[in-house]
Amino acid sequence: MCQCLRRLCSSTTMKSLLLIVASCLLSGLASADEDRQGLIGESLIFSTPSDTNHVLLTPSRDMDLKNFTLCLRVNTESPRQHVLFSYATQSSPSELLLKREDETTVSLTVSGVKIPFLVRSSQLSSWVHVCARRDMMAKQVILHINGRPSVRKALEPSNPIKPGGKVVLGQEQGRVGGGFQQEKCLVGEIADVHLWDHILTTSTIRAISMGDPIYRGNVIDWLTVKHTIKGQVKSLRTTSVN
Ligand SMILES: *[C@@H]1O[C@H](CO)[C@@H](O)[C@H](O)[C@H]1NC(C)=O
Repeated sequence: MCQCLRRLCSSTTMKSLLLIVASCLLSGLASADEDRQGLIGESLIFSTPSDTNHVLLTPSRDMDLKNFTLCLRVNTESPRQHVLFSYATQSSPSELLLKREDETTVSLTVSGVKIPFLVRSSQLSSWVHVCARRDMMAKQVILHINGRPSVRKALEPSNPIKPGGKVVLGQEQGRVGGGFQQEKCLVGEIADVHLWDHILTTSTIRAISMGDPIYRGNVIDWLTVKHTIKGQVKSLRTTSVN
């Protein structure tokens, strides 16, 4: 009986059967990594902590940014650190990073320089609209939570964001496209990620935070953005305000 099983296992039929099973499993995984375009009315749901689950976004133009405005919506129950938006280049893994540091701090990192903003934790429940904008001439950055501007903070030195990197949602890139750490991952939902290569006014940001769909990013536009879902991330109809 034992010999018979061994013979069966070593037979080419068994090997080809295993190959078929393996290739089926692999193609199943590959289909989860499918390239897609546009996330109209959808949010991305990161339901379990991991150091692999993430979504790659492909900006529609070079990330060679002087002034910029980055906006998104996030809904999470977690008060611990997590990354909302990570743009890494070869020379700087934190070229543009938006991150919740703890219960009351959201930080913006530009070319490796981190600027912390104090936020009331009551402002950070359910869907929260977060925008960060940078005025390169004035060497200033501002964070908007649900449309409300923070104090202006100085950002020096003032280099443009460098092109040629990768944009990742849900993880912080330790190196381009990887180097993720589970303790920094997002567990929750994210939607309406838009990036502009210029400064939006406070009143425009307020309108966007209240759900005005007219304004769409010219570098990243949630409605049309090419994206690749890696691992256990679901895109589903959003429960967000718009
Ligand atoms: C950035 O925005 C400011 C204020 O709107 C403007 O004065 C400046 O010319 C813009 N461009 C650059 C490259 O700084």
